[in-house]
Amino acid sequence: MSKVKDSSLAKKGADELSWARANMPVLAKIRSRFEKEKPFAGLTISVALHLEKKTGILLETLSAGGAKVYASSCNPMSTNDAAAAALAAAGKIEVFAWAGQTDEEYYSCLNAVLDAKPSIVIDDGCDLINLLHTSRKKELPKIIGACEETTTGINRLMAMQKAGKLLFPVFAVNNAHSKFLLDNQFGTAQSTVDAISRATNVILAGKTVVVAGYGWCGRGVASRMKGMGANVVIVEVDGTLGPHESGLHRALLAHYEGYRVLSMPEAARIGDIFITATGNKNVIGKEHFPLLKNGAMLCNTGHFDVEIDEKALRASSKSVHAMKENVMAYEQKDGRTIYLLSEGRLVNLAQPSGQGHPIEIMDGSFALQALCCELLAKSSKTGGKKMAAGVHSVPVPVDDEVARLLLASKGIALQEPTAEQKKYAESFEEGT
Ligand SMILES: NC(=O)c1ccc[n+]([C@@H]2O[C@H](COP(=O)([O-])OP(=O)(O)OC[C@H]3O[C@@H](n4cnc5c(N)ncnc54)[C@H](O)[C@@H]3O)[C@@H](O)[C@H]2O)c1
Repeated sequence: MSKVKDSSLAKKGADELSWARANMPVLAKIRSRFEKEKPFAGLTISVALHLEKKTGILLETLSAGGAKVYASSCNPMSTNDAAAAALAAAGKIEVFAWAGQTDEEYYSCLNAVLDAKPSIVIDDGCDLINLLHTSRKKELPKIIGACEETTTGINRLMAMQKAGKLLFPVFAVNNAHSKFLLDNQFGTAQSTVDAISRATNVILAGKTVVVAGYGWCGRGVASRMKGMGANVVIVEVDGTLGPHESGLHRALLAHYEGYRVLSMPEAARIGDIFITATGNKNVIGKEHFPLLKNGAMLCNTGHFDVEIDEKALRASSKSVHAMKENVMAYEQKDGRTIYLLSEGRLVNLAQPSGQGHPIEIMDGSFALQALCCELLAKSSKTGGKKMAAGVHSVPVPVDDEVARLLLASKGIALQEPTAEQKKYAESFEEGT
């Protein structure tokens, strides 16, 4: 039995879902094939994703493929209550999500979708997969595998795998080219700029905007902020903190893109707006708060709400009060006011100012999710190739197919290389 905030929002939510559906042609194509082939007949899929209109279309696609679908959010603030109400009212998907959850409510919803005893899990940030490996171990024998949506989730999975603790196969959807090149970069960019504008209504042109982390998310945000006329400063670290170039190389990339690259103590003194996009913790912490200008605005677009040390900011404040929706004011003892957007949670998804990524971006990301779920389902069928426990890359043909469908949806068709060109390229691969 679904649990949402306000079922009277169902009509509004249904309109939102219709709009998303009309702009997700790739999922529509997959859905019509799933309707015929029913790849998930007899399977239950439990999901923890930001529960808003685009996610609704993925859930409908899985349901059209014959799955029983149970959905919670992967963040206490990101549920769109209207979309959740519409999905629940349609009766095909069980929804356990609302915006503004306490931590206890958040975990009760994650546990509710696991009570359905899923065979396949879709996660965003690895909270659901983590529960399955800790307090919900008894569900493990039924699990075929999972899909993970974001960088932070993949980092957690890689740590579990390294410790020999990852007990089922997981597709690293985030690491597919059709995902991180588009979603992390262009999706986070547009939605973060949009959410900051909606939450604050201040002009971005002429502001000094500090972006911490020059990964795919950070570089997208920086480029769009530059386009809005902001003076963008990049903060990176001297070290390698993921399976990619080090912070040193990323700092160089930022420098050659024409950004000022500074350390956080230097940037803290000059920034008007700060955006963290690192996947790391205390990126803006107690040593930085005394350096900030009066009126500095802080926000985060990394997965967890640990990038800005809110507890330390609160401790350094003489009072804290809400200025407006999505903006809290932290009055400092020396008379300065520092603003924190959306409690330091994902600013681009925190309701009501965060609408999440543009619809077409999620068409690609969720097409990957749907096709990876299908691969997991196939692996469990008689004659299917069982997948080993561990983190798996999305197969290149699937990644390419999603890119091809996205291009086709935009009326772009590429020519295949000629036989001669293929042979020439292969001769290098063979080292001849
Ligand atoms: N807002 C969204 O909708 C959205 C979308 C996709 C991913 N994400 C999340 O955003 C975060 C970043 O994702 P990504 O794909 O860009 O990751 P990434 O690993 O490619 O990049 C992160 C960068 O941050 C740098 N960094 C780490 N600690 C730092 C510190 N203390 N100061 C400055 N820089 C630091 C790293 O060196 C790295 O270059 C992750 O948590 C990811 O899950 C959010």
